[in-house]
Amino acid sequence: MQQNLSAKLNLKPATLAVLIQCVAVFTVLCVTWAIYWLSAIIFNLDLTYPIFTLVLLQALFAAFFSHLSGMASWWRWIHLGFPIVVWAMSILHIPNTFYLIGFIVTLSLYWTTFRTQVPFFPSRSVIWEQVLSLLPQNKPIRLIDIGSGLGDLSMCVAKARPESLIEGIEIAPLPWLVSVVRAKLKRSRAVFKFGDYHALDFANYDVIFAYLSPAVMHALWQKSHAEMRPGSLLMSYEFEIQGVPPSSVISHDDQGKMLYVWKIP
Ligand SMILES: C[S@@+](CC[C@H](N)C(=O)[O-])C[C@H]1O[C@@H](n2cnc3c(N)ncnc32)[C@H](O)[C@@H]1O
Repeated sequence: MQQNLSAKLNLKPATLAVLIQCVAVFTVLCVTWAIYWLSAIIFNLDLTYPIFTLVLLQALFAAFFSHLSGMASWWRWIHLGFPIVVWAMSILHIPNTFYLIGFIVTLSLYWTTFRTQVPFFPSRSVIWEQVLSLLPQNKPIRLIDIGSGLGDLSMCVAKARPESLIEGIEIAPLPWLVSVVRAKLKRSRAVFKFGDYHALDFANYDVIFAYLSPAVMHALWQKSHAEMRPGSLLMSYEFEIQGVPPSSVISHDDQGKMLYVWKIP
């Protein structure tokens, strides 16, 4: 239903989430006003609501509306927690600078997540080793991690394959900056670009590694299929491409997540 609602209203999930919180505020106002009015008329009471009751109602209504609108299940917890965290922080009298720094760090880290729907979360060394084991041997290759985050995968591959050109491209400024600084400190040969992988020509690469999100996999396949050379490899950790069976699937991850590989025909 979320897809229907989002498609119908042409909204990103984050926009829908803001709308849901607004509708929840309106509902809390209507419900509390109706109870206040009824109790005044029928029982001659002058009700006052403790602020936490209102916060809790807001959280419950928002989580309920999130469920009704078909948002993914984790959004319910976000909707439930958000008003409570805002209330808790407001009574802690935290200095404004804290919020400013938090805002700047979050913005730099999740720069375009709203648009791309791909948040930052790093892969682990077990995946880098799997990627290494799947690379074409005995010849230099050109590999890129599209959405390279802090750069670990590219640096790991660059270390193991010094004859090859290993790159990363990252759209969020903070992870990109961290990856560049780390590559300098570690004297890594990996090259990190700041930008959007959509602007790349995939024909230039022998291997493309992606750890993105289900929201972009269909478009990623269309671009890869159109641009990548026959015989080159597209790898995706955790996320499949609906309707496109992979050439191989590796599953040595202790979390049960897979590494999917497509050999371009
Ligand atoms: C799940 S993280 C993966 C990080 C890294 N590949 C790893 O394995 O640790 C996905 C990253 O892709 C970046 N990203 C999302 N859309 C992008 C785009 N269109 N172009 C470049 N980077 C993008 C995000 O900012 C995020 O840092």
